[in-house]
Amino acid sequence: MTAYDELNEFEGKSSKLSLGYQLLKLIKSEELTFLMEAHDALSAAIVAEAGFPAIWASGFSISTSLGYRDVNECSWTQVVDVVERMVDASCKPILVDGDSGFGNFNNARIFSKKLFERGAAGICIEDKVFPKMNSFVGNRHPLADIGEFCGRLKAIRDTVPKDEFVLIARTEAFIAGQGIDEALDRAHAYAYANAGVDGILIHSRRHEPNEVFAFSDAWKNRLPLVIVPTKYYTTPASEYKNAGISAAIWANHNMRAAVNAMRSICQVVLKEEGVKNVEDGIADLSEVFSLLDYDELDISEGIYLS
Ligand code: SPV
Ligand code: MG
Repeated sequence: MTAYDELNEFEGKSSKLSLGYQLLKLIKSEELTFLMEAHDALSAAIVAEAGFPAIWASGFSISTSLGYRDVNECSWTQVVDVVERMVDASCKPILVDGDSGFGNFNNARIFSKKLFERGAAGICIEDKVFPKMNSFVGNRHPLADIGEFCGRLKAIRDTVPKDEFVLIARTEAFIAGQGIDEALDRAHAYAYANAGVDGILIHSRRHEPNEVFAFSDAWKNRLPLVIVPTKYYTTPASEYKNAGISAAIWANHNMRAAVNAMRSICQVVLKEEGVKNVEDGIADLSEVFSLLDYDELDISEGIYLS
């Protein structure tokens, strides 16, 4: 039975359409799904408005927007608070970048439980040790012991319900400089750890997707595969489709777009000592009001204040 058949069978028995279940469906579907990064309520609302089916709550982008470096400087409770606002503002399934789970099995399960309670659709945790370093910075990326990481996955699954909260296991084997055998061994262990893992994320920081495709060839879709094409961004999506990839995450592009947009506007306003020449290039006030549905308040006032 394929992952796709299993899901259809489950759907036959359930009428639940929780955000977690929606995400599970996307990850297990035979189509390639795109998750777009958001890092706060505003960016999550914009991603939802654009029409993406699901959102990546990026650890890198959330910590950056809070002024922290992506080395677990930001606490898990801060991430939970940001994610809650993102859920409310977008009503979309959100896959949370859980880093390495903020510690051992116990930290990972408490963090996951809180994310579930606040409406997140799933978590992705990576096989690094705490504190983790952003995958694109430097060469010190010590990997967790495989058995210990399987314990972290199991503890999460024993705490949050399967079919309502997606669990993705991410291997950083390539980021740590290891080869395909280590990456496959790890993915295999996580998939068969009896931890109800729903998918494997294989990360790479090469500019070409060759190690990712070598992995997907050998993996043969034992579980759905998720990728993050931040560095190999020139590869067309059709190649991911052909490789049978389930989901691609555009992991930090809204945050980076905001950095450039805010920098340029600051330069113009500083230089011109006025805002006349930036008005046409920024969101109209009415667009901001409409994004957060101010009209709804008007309607509700008619009902409840009269
Ligand atoms: C993130 O978005 O925080 C990620 C993906 O973990 S990456 O930064 O590409 O490693
Ligand atoms: Mg991250």
